[in-house]
Amino acid sequence: MIAYASRTGNVRFIVHQLGLPNIEIQEGLILDEPFLLCTYTDGIGEVPPIVEGFLKNNAHLCKGVVASGNSNFGHSYFCRSADVISETYGIPIVEKIELRGFQKNYHAIMEFYKRTIQGGIFR
Ligand SMILES: Cc1cc2nc3c(=O)[nH]c(=O)nc-3n(C[C@H](O)[C@H](O)[C@H](O)COP(=O)(O)O)c2cc1C
Repeated sequence: MIAYASRTGNVRFIVHQLGLPNIEIQEGLILDEPFLLCTYTDGIGEVPPIVEGFLKNNAHLCKGVVASGNSNFGHSYFCRSADVISETYGIPIVEKIELRGFQKNYHAIMEFYKRTIQGGIFR
């Protein structure tokens, strides 16, 4: 499962490219299976509030984080949402993606997903 937040459509586009089961984060969403989190970056290198709320209830099932950002915000802040989530919850960063990203980003995410989330079912 992929849980995602998207404000202007870039993360939604990325998730739809992957063709994996997915759910858009809404307030109060509770998941009962391992998932990959895909989020955008807000403010000045911040985690979107909807994602912060979601993680309070679901972080224990989150196996990795993918962030989309814009490198115009500068190296320190580019996709910093992923760093904050990783540091706060000990969740591995899978990819940092410029806007909608490229084929190589989708490929890396697929590899991680197959190994960690699909593979995990049979462990
Ligand atoms: C108000 C605002 C603040 C943003 N802050 C950052 C930031 O600090 N770092 C970054 O890498 N991208 C930042 N971005 C860029 C978005 O994270 C990026 O465009 C992302 O692809 C948006 O995903 P979405 O279309 O799914 O909402 C910001 C965008 C907006 C509108």
